Amino acid sequence: MGDDENATRRRLGHTQQGHDLSDTTQETGMDHRDLRLLDDDALERSSIVANSDMNRERRLPAYRRELGVDVLALLRGADRVVRWLDLCCGTANALFEAAHALGDRAEIVGVDLVGYFAGPPRPPGLRLVTASVTSWAPDAAFDLITCVHGLHYVGDKLGVIARAASWLTDDGLFAANFDVRSVRSVRGVRGADGAPAGRRLTAALRANGLDYDARNRRVSRRGRKEIDLRWSYLGADDRAGPNYTGQAAVVSYYAVG
Ligand SMILES: C[S@@+](CC[C@H](N)C(=O)[O-])C[C@H]1O[C@@H](n2cnc3c(N)ncnc32)[C@H](O)[C@@H]1O
Repeated sequence: MGDDENATRRRLGHTQQGHDLSDTTQETGMDHRDLRLLDDDALERSSIVANSDMNRERRLPAYRRELGVDVLALLRGADRVVRWLDLCCGTANALFEAAHALGDRAEIVGVDLVGYFAGPPRPPGLRLVTASVTSWAPDAAFDLITCVHGLHYVGDKLGVIARAASWLTDDGLFAANFDVRSVRSVRGVRGADGAPAGRRLTAALRANGLDYDARNRRVSRRGRKEIDLRWSYLGADDRAGPNYTGQAAVVSYYAVG
């Protein structure tokens, strides 16, 4: 077993460590005695995020099903070299398929926390990066940015959505699976654990030029935009249980100004 594989297996098997954010929650006026929010380090070691059972192996047809995006048709439509970024790309099977189909007409980048990528060999137009999407940043804009069932496991989901919108070309497309119920707002919400941000978040997303498809639980944006939602990320809870996909997922807490 190589060093990379050992590192991956260590990540996939790690247990979590929590951080008590009671100071922060006191500031927001809520009783968070039972709520232990995780910071990024602890979240990325959580067994919910480093879960070896989740589906990391989707192929191109699944992108159409899950996001409503025909990746190859969209990328083939351009008369220049096109750039596709896939966040939380898993094994990157779909990216390999697109790289083989498009050859030197495409530059494709995949980013995932766990370097559990398919291959080698790796086609020349494909770059795979082991990093968190909360901290990684590209050096050029993309025509297409996707995230298939990845935000469910990210702490600062709204931060990643805002960053992705800022990485688009002027007419680029961002599309991701996203459930507004996985975001909880703290201020002004009754109950000890906060409540799903729901309509308030949907309104904030739309006011900032993002589309939210509530039926299919997708967020999207056409064209580069700097977005400032003014929601401050507090931390994440990995004990919220299964989300709409049936898999245990991460709920993210925000203070709303
Ligand atoms: C359900 S899998 C989906 C993988 C791939 N998009 C697919 O559909 O096959 C979720 C992926 O998100 C990745 N992930 C979770 N948190 C991440 C983070 N903070 N940064 C990058 N990747 C992350 C996981 O490692 C996992 O590969």
